[in-house]
Amino acid sequence: MATTPFICIRDLVQRFGEREVLRGVDLDIHRGETIALLGGSGAGKSVLLKHLPGLLHPAAGRVEVDGVDISAMSERELGPVRNKVGMMFQNGALFDSLSVGENVAFPLRERGLTDEKELRERVGRALDIVRLGGEEDKMPADLSGGMRKRVALARAVVDRPACVLFDEPHAGLDPVTADTIDHMIKCLQVEHGMTNVVVTHEMRSVFRIADRVVFLAGGRIRWEGPVEDFRRTTEPDLRAFIDGDSGEPWGRC
Ligand SMILES: Nc1ncnc2c1ncn2[C@@H]1O[C@H](COP(=O)(O)OP(=O)(O)O)[C@@H](O)[C@H]1O
Ligand SMILES: [Mg+2]
Repeated sequence: MATTPFICIRDLVQRFGEREVLRGVDLDIHRGETIALLGGSGAGKSVLLKHLPGLLHPAAGRVEVDGVDISAMSERELGPVRNKVGMMFQNGALFDSLSVGENVAFPLRERGLTDEKELRERVGRALDIVRLGGEEDKMPADLSGGMRKRVALARAVVDRPACVLFDEPHAGLDPVTADTIDHMIKCLQVEHGMTNVVVTHEMRSVFRIADRVVFLAGGRIRWEGPVEDFRRTTEPDLRAFIDGDSGEPWGRC
């Protein structure tokens, strides 16, 4: 691609104690694309995502966002980066004591927005995107799992980031609700020009929403390419992942 990448990851290394989770990850994320980030449980997908808004600092290597190296930035310097890169965390993580509206308003208040009228308008617009307009006063405990995910999504996009990271947005959802989430993710890309990185184990979602697939294994990018190439791959480990096949024989226990 001719344009400079929105996010540029070079030789990224991360370790916890003895365990090296990322062992030199190189990845470009381009403006306006939807990437599906795949890999087995514990492969380091969440750890990789957390480097993009600077929630983790690299042990080695670097991460550039919009042309700026964020690897060694302080929390204060990272503020503007986090306005560009929003994150929907694994498990949604809403504040149970705050209403839906206050949950969504949280990132705006965090960065100092105090005009109540503007807050209301922006929260309303974010809730409209996830088709929860008018539900500001509900409490998280009154919502279904799918609705909680949608509120978490609204919170991730309320400050209009250029890029949104989704960590397992489909986990625990029925197939129909998962499809609703897929529509919303695709709508963010198509109608709002957002760049999306989606960690998921739902292959149906991958083929519906991704432009490009990135497969993480052994602490490195094991494979990356267009979703159509991924669909047709004959590489055994990728095929096993797509087909959900452990290789164990059926009919015998
Ligand atoms: N803050 C942390 N402290 C110690 N180990 C961690 C931390 N975060 C992740 N890990 C470890 O890093 C590995 C990768 O985790 P993670 O990125 O969550 O995997 P996944 O691909 O399932 O999202 C796991 O072995 C996990 O236990
Ligand atoms: Mg994870």
